[in-house]
Amino acid sequence: MLEYLRGEPQHLGKLYKRGLKIGKSFNRLGGVIIDPSHCNHITIGDNVTLAPRVHILAHDASTYIFFGKTRAANVTIGNDVFIGASSIILPGVKIGNRVVVGAGSVVTKDIPDNSVAAGNPAKVICSVDDYIAREKSKMNEFNTFVALDPAKIEDRNKANAAAAKYGEIFVS
Ligand SMILES: CC(C)(COP(=O)(O)OP(=O)(O)OC[C@H]1O[C@@H](n2cnc3c(N)ncnc32)[C@H](O)[C@@H]1OP(=O)(O)O)[C@@H](O)C(=O)NCCC(=O)NCCS
Repeated sequence: MLEYLRGEPQHLGKLYKRGLKIGKSFNRLGGVIIDPSHCNHITIGDNVTLAPRVHILAHDASTYIFFGKTRAANVTIGNDVFIGASSIILPGVKIGNRVVVGAGSVVTKDIPDNSVAAGNPAKVICSVDDYIAREKSKMNEFNTFVALDPAKIEDRNKANAAAAKYGEIFVS
């Protein structure tokens, strides 16, 4: 109820009517904000995940108080993109295909295809190909779980014990 009163989660139907474009397999977690007043400037591709509290901005009203005009610019997010928790995407930014944005990043400039970018301001730290290869190379029969049931506390305890033992684990 409180969420509803706060306008969360945002009603995507309303944003589509205002011109927001989103491709297939879109996933957003709690507290995501897609600039409601200027969402006609936002295009999101296929297979995109926005982690909790990501904020996509397509306008800047800081000019309004001085000369009565708000600046707006198109934001484009490509296909196969993961944007980490609490990141902010600023107006005018183009994020390419196959991109990971680290948690807490402030994306002020374009991010090229096939890259992992992080920080404030966000900078490319490696390629997605390298990132995937590195993560996959850490997986083994002990730290990788295929059938953990998140509804079962025994399974969650098992995951906790494995993470304590191996440092990090991989779960479906
Ligand atoms: C960006 C990310 C994918 C990089 O993972 P990684 O390749 O394993 O990164 P590493 O830990 O090897 O760090 C590489 C460098 O980037 C820096 N870095 C990593 N993540 C960062 C972040 N979010 N912000 C700023 N810098 C970051 C590290 O400090 C390190 O810098 P250094 O080389 O100067 O020491 C990961 O850190 C991240 O932020 N994931 C998103 C998590 C998330 O949002 N979860 C929500 C679940 S829905």
